[in-house]
Amino acid sequence: MRIGFFDSGIGGISVLNEAVKHFPKEDFLYYADTRNVPYGTKAKEEVNKHVQAAVEDILKEEVKALVIACNTATSISINELRSIYDIPIIGMEPAAKPAIKLSSSMDKRVLVFATDLTLKELKYRKLITRIDKDSIVDPLPLPELVEFCEDLNFNWDELSAYFRTKLEGFDLNQYGTVVLGCTHFPYYKPVLKEVLPSHIQLIDGGKGTVERLSTLLKEKSLLSDNGTNNISFKCSNGDRNYMLKMRNALNVLQNELNKPKRKPHK
Ligand code: DGL
Repeated sequence: MRIGFFDSGIGGISVLNEAVKHFPKEDFLYYADTRNVPYGTKAKEEVNKHVQAAVEDILKEEVKALVIACNTATSISINELRSIYDIPIIGMEPAAKPAIKLSSSMDKRVLVFATDLTLKELKYRKLITRIDKDSIVDPLPLPELVEFCEDLNFNWDELSAYFRTKLEGFDLNQYGTVVLGCTHFPYYKPVLKEVLPSHIQLIDGGKGTVERLSTLLKEKSLLSDNGTNNISFKCSNGDRNYMLKMRNALNVLQNELNKPKRKPHK
C-alpha cells in the first residue's frame, strides 16, 4: 500500500522528495488541494474545512499512512484528523528546536519563515513558549513566497530582490539560523544561500519528518519491500496541467534546477 502526502499545493513535494530518497521500496500518492491553495492567508475555520475535505478525498484511495506535508494544515487540523482516522498521520511544525540549539551554540538568534496562519496559531505559539527560554526566536511571515512557488517562479533577480526587501529591518549578523517553516520554501534554498550571510544555516523539517515516518512505519510493521518508488499525483480540482506541474516541481528539486544559471552578483 502507498504512503500518502498532502499539501495545499506543490510545497509538500519538498517533503515527498526526501521520502522518495529514503524509501526506495515504497510507493507514494501525492495530493494537492489545488481548489483552495493557498491556505496560509485564509481563516483557520476555512482551512480546517478544506483540510478535512481533502483528507476524506485522499482516503478514498488506499494509503497506509498519511503525511500532512504542510505546516499550516498541521497547526490547524492535526488533532481533529487523528481523532477521526485510524491510520498513522504524521504532521509538520517549524523546526525551531534544532535551530535554537544551533543558534544558541553560536550565541545568535533564530529567524522563522512561515505562513501568517502558522505563526499566529496556538500550536506554534505554544511550541515557542516551551522551547525558546532565552527569547531568541523571531517570526517572519512570507505569504508571497507561496504564490511565487505555485507559479514555479525561480527568477533569481526577482526572488533575491524580494528576500532583500523582506529582510531589510533585520540585522542578519545577529542570526545563526533561518527555519523554513513552510514546505513551499525549500525550493528557494539556493537563492537564500546567496542572499543571507554565509554563517546562517537553513533548517527545514523535511528530513526530520521522513525520519519520524520511518520510525512509525517500522513500529507498526508497515514498511514495504516490494514497492518500486512509484509516485502517483492527484489534485482536488483534477487539473491535468497541475499534474504536470507537480512532476516538474519534483524535477526542480531533484535536479536542482532552481540553482542559478550564472554566477550571481551581489
Ligand atoms: N505548504 C504549506 C505550509 O507548509 C502552506 C502554504 C499555503 O498554502 O499557504 O505551511
